[in-house]
Amino acid sequence: MTKKLKLTQGEERKFYVKRMFNAIARRYDLLNHLLSFGIDILWRKKAIRKLNVAADGLVLDLACGTGDFALETIRQKKCRVVGVDIAAQMLVFGNRKKQIKKEGKRLCFANGDGERLPFADNTFDGATIAFGIRNMGDMDQALREFARVLKSGAALVVLEFSLPQFKPFRAVYLFYFKHILPHIGALISGDREAYSYLPLSVGEFPSVPDFRRKMEQAGFTNINHWRLLNGVAVIYRGRSI
Ligand SMILES: C[S@@+](CC[C@H](N)C(=O)[O-])C[C@H]1O[C@@H](n2cnc3c(N)ncnc32)[C@H](O)[C@@H]1O
Repeated sequence: MTKKLKLTQGEERKFYVKRMFNAIARRYDLLNHLLSFGIDILWRKKAIRKLNVAADGLVLDLACGTGDFALETIRQKKCRVVGVDIAAQMLVFGNRKKQIKKEGKRLCFANGDGERLPFADNTFDGATIAFGIRNMGDMDQALREFARVLKSGAALVVLEFSLPQFKPFRAVYLFYFKHILPHIGALISGDREAYSYLPLSVGEFPSVPDFRRKMEQAGFTNINHWRLLNGVAVIYRGRSI
């Protein structure tokens, strides 16, 4: 099934990704927690602990989806968050969540493209992106946009899937990822392609040293990373120059 799907880049990928997330928005949260056995919740909490931002600081959460990462940021940091996503349907479900959560008052959403952010230079005191950078049509351009809209010295925290380092574990993980997860995803979301896209996009994501280099080239310094669950996911943090 995964062999039929071919990943594209640039505008074509952006169009494809937007359509896909609009289609699965209704089931996105359920599938996220189910397919990761709830571990994504712990990873998000841990990633946000790496963000240094003052209470009342303004944080950009790019590729915010239905807002879980943004809401957790507000819970931990008491800051304000602007969530930006290209798929309007994800924001529709995010808005419903925002209405019923007390942290929702400090969150606002905007429908937009991470590669052309509708904000002035030096606007934000911090920025985050969870499981989103891999989906950009042009990842380098999105990183440059982060650097542009962040104030000098402000942190960017990226949470993204990667591949486990321990080979036997990697083999089991890849089997689950390629052969089991797409079937469960298709069954629950009704979208066969979306959950075949996931393992493909993770497989082609840059290695940890390569991604660190990309951050550096885009205008970040003091870069650190933390591997989660032997490297299934990685948290990266850098400071805007
Ligand atoms: C896997 S979801 C992650 C959502 C959320 N951050 C989370 O942790 O649950 C990826 C999100 O990236 C968004 N996205 C993809 N390309 C984008 C772009 N160019 N600009 C803004 N958002 C984008 C998708 O619409 C989708 O909501």
